[in-house]
Amino acid sequence: MAEPRAATIDGKLAEEFAVPSHVDEVKEQMAAFAGRHGAKGRRVVLITSGGTKVPLESRTVRFLDNFSSGRRGASSAEYFLDSGYAVIFLHRHRSLYPYTRLYSNINLLDTLQLKSGEGASSNSGQVVVNQQALPNIAKVLKRYQEVKDAGLLLPIEFNTLSEYLHLLKAAAQALSTIGSKAMFYLAAAVSDFYIPASEMPEHKIQSSNGPLQISMKMVPKMLSPLVKDWAPQAFVISFKLETDPSILLDKARRALDTYRHQAVVANILDTRRGYVVVVTPETQAELILTDEDVKNEVEIEEKIISNLKAAHGQFITQQLD
Ligand code: PMT
Repeated sequence: MAEPRAATIDGKLAEEFAVPSHVDEVKEQMAAFAGRHGAKGRRVVLITSGGTKVPLESRTVRFLDNFSSGRRGASSAEYFLDSGYAVIFLHRHRSLYPYTRLYSNINLLDTLQLKSGEGASSNSGQVVVNQQALPNIAKVLKRYQEVKDAGLLLPIEFNTLSEYLHLLKAAAQALSTIGSKAMFYLAAAVSDFYIPASEMPEHKIQSSNGPLQISMKMVPKMLSPLVKDWAPQAFVISFKLETDPSILLDKARRALDTYRHQAVVANILDTRRGYVVVVTPETQAELILTDEDVKNEVEIEEKIISNLKAAHGQFITQQLD
């Protein structure tokens, strides 16, 4: 099937996906962030992370969601920051976040103790942190504060599919000013299906009407206008997730052929934490966590970012030639 023209996708976005009220403000923030870091010669990566919610009713009670935890995006952000990038982190509200992700399974109250002083009432006293309950906390906190103080991380939240699509477009336009120094790392698990606002019931769907049948439309692939129109000079990486390993690489190559971007990170749902393949038009690199890596707590994202940073460097050099 022929790829829809980018103008058609722009029209569809405006007509069928509610525009978030803060999109212009966020676009300005992202443009200022990219401009500031670009002027210092720093590369800037836009990471998308987490799943998207697709509402079934306008006054939403129910929605369709997916499995993505946002761990890939959050840990990748840390390795990009360690590699000298400034990071715009476009993430699903409440999905995993850089640095705090390391403590996401810990109950905050289990890490604190109340030391009541003499004469203190039973509801007051000094709160003391039990550092042992927070592995590596001093090191992680130091790094988090360095990143924050240097203004290297710009977090932007989305919740619904519509918010994601409009904010991605705004980000692409905001980063277009820094040309090939911009990287797009599209790790979010974006819904392929949606119900247009015009076809959505306003009120809660009634179970008294019997079993539910819904018909959903295809979400336009954002990669097409992003690569062709919104940020044509940028280095773009999409992800390809499958559950059947036998079709993965073929689908990754097909995506490169269709969208003409620079790389696809191909992964399988069950093995995504320990194995990915980075596919480019010319190369294919298998990245694997060995037993030794696991023992040393090496994460697959460290290997992915090292591979992509080198490829981005070559890309920038080629653009300058
Ligand atoms: O979050 P985790 O639990 O750590 O899991 C990480 C992950 C498995 C979600 C991640 O590694 C991953 O594979 N993300 C992409 C999953 C996906 O949605 O693949 P896809 O085949 O549906 O989409 C392919 C690419 O097109 C993606 O880069 C996506 O961002 C992009 N896309 C998708 C839909 C759409 N309308 N427009 C797009 O541009």
